[in-house]
Amino acid sequence: MDEFFSHRDGELRCEEVPLAELARRFGTPLYVYSANAIRARYRALVEAFAPDPPLVCYALKANHNLAVIRTLAALGAGADTVSAGEILRARRAGVPASKIVFAGVAKTDQEIRLALEKGILQLNVESAQELERIAAIASAVGRSAPIALRVNPDVAATTHDKIATGRKHDKFGIDLAEAPALYERANALPGVEPVGVHLHIGSQILDLAPFERAYGRAVELVRELRARGIPIRRLDLGGGLGVRYGDEGPADLRAFAALVRRATAGLDLELVLEPGRFLVAEAGVLVASVIYLKEAGGRRFLVLDAGMNTLVRPAMYGARHAIAPVRAPRPEDEILRMDVVGPICESSDIFGRDYRLPRLGPGDLLVFHTAGAYGMVMASDYNSRPSPAEVLVDGARFAVVRPRREPEEQMASERIPPWLDDPGRA
Ligand code: LLP
Repeated sequence: MDEFFSHRDGELRCEEVPLAELARRFGTPLYVYSANAIRARYRALVEAFAPDPPLVCYALKANHNLAVIRTLAALGAGADTVSAGEILRARRAGVPASKIVFAGVAKTDQEIRLALEKGILQLNVESAQELERIAAIASAVGRSAPIALRVNPDVAATTHDKIATGRKHDKFGIDLAEAPALYERANALPGVEPVGVHLHIGSQILDLAPFERAYGRAVELVRELRARGIPIRRLDLGGGLGVRYGDEGPADLRAFAALVRRATAGLDLELVLEPGRFLVAEAGVLVASVIYLKEAGGRRFLVLDAGMNTLVRPAMYGARHAIAPVRAPRPEDEILRMDVVGPICESSDIFGRDYRLPRLGPGDLLVFHTAGAYGMVMASDYNSRPSPAEVLVDGARFAVVRPRREPEEQMASERIPPWLDDPGRA
């Protein structure tokens, strides 16, 4: 992705646009996304599967900004959604209902109704209870819901414990051993039509072997179901392809496509993929400003205006994002070790220890790489700091796709009940 974020004339640009200019105009912290980087990732994925590309349903949870979704929808992407809100976002951004899948362990009746009304491609069912709910609701409105059961293949993906989802003790999906009986039930129930099998084993996966094991198990299930006369025609393989945060990855697309082809050979299945991170993570950066370089307790702390409220991944998963100054490195730069921290009043508000960076001072700009996925979507108003603006860059063009929200706006929707009213307040 270096071609989309590179130094020219002494400064780091996103495509044609200097990040320092965006920071000056829109303030920091600031999320900046490269439209062409997103397109390049989508095309690389589709091309790896040529001549039979799967339906790529972008997992909106990674970055649900309407402009990001639209960029992908314009290329033909569908959407993987987990709430009514995400279904509405996908439709608003131009994803046709026929390319939307709906997953999630806690679908409410209202959400199921919305999915049915919109006529989406498939609902991914997470439990026997949910199957009954969907069948009842669909029957009541005179529809038949196309469904896949999300199976839990009991495969441990090589990734962070908190983002592995396909092990027996994880809350997701239906035990493989129980799946055939539940498919029989679905086949007999009015209101649902079992069309597919779904699985998703976790996120940020670079070692492809767990995918191969899990897909092998899903394919065995497809064969068994077909042998029982249940005409499964679609396999939804989930997301999880890993990206580069430091020196690793990204996932090897050719090898991934080859293993999918091997696993599904001869079955004539429609394939669906649900990548989130892979499409957008490396297409985004977070720009932050230095507040101070502080020395204390024998350590050097680079204190930024971005913190766990802006990018929570380091505090939550111990993730380490590459960090670099926006101005180009100079030969005379003295490289120092420093701990990079945010402004939040918690010791967990630390991006990482012992980053090697040049001596920086107040107002200097830094970027966090690989911040396009699970960045802004997980940001919060914690400590009442302004929430970052988001900017989409496309060649030499750029636009604010979500403005910065100042504390005044954060407070605007809150109410003090009349019995607490104090006419003396500011
Ligand atoms: N499909 C399903 C059913 C999922 O649960 C997920 C992610 C995806 C697709 C997309 O996975 P991806 O391709 O992005 O790996 N907040 C965490 C990641 C949580 C992922 C949750 N599920 C992080 O920042 O690392």
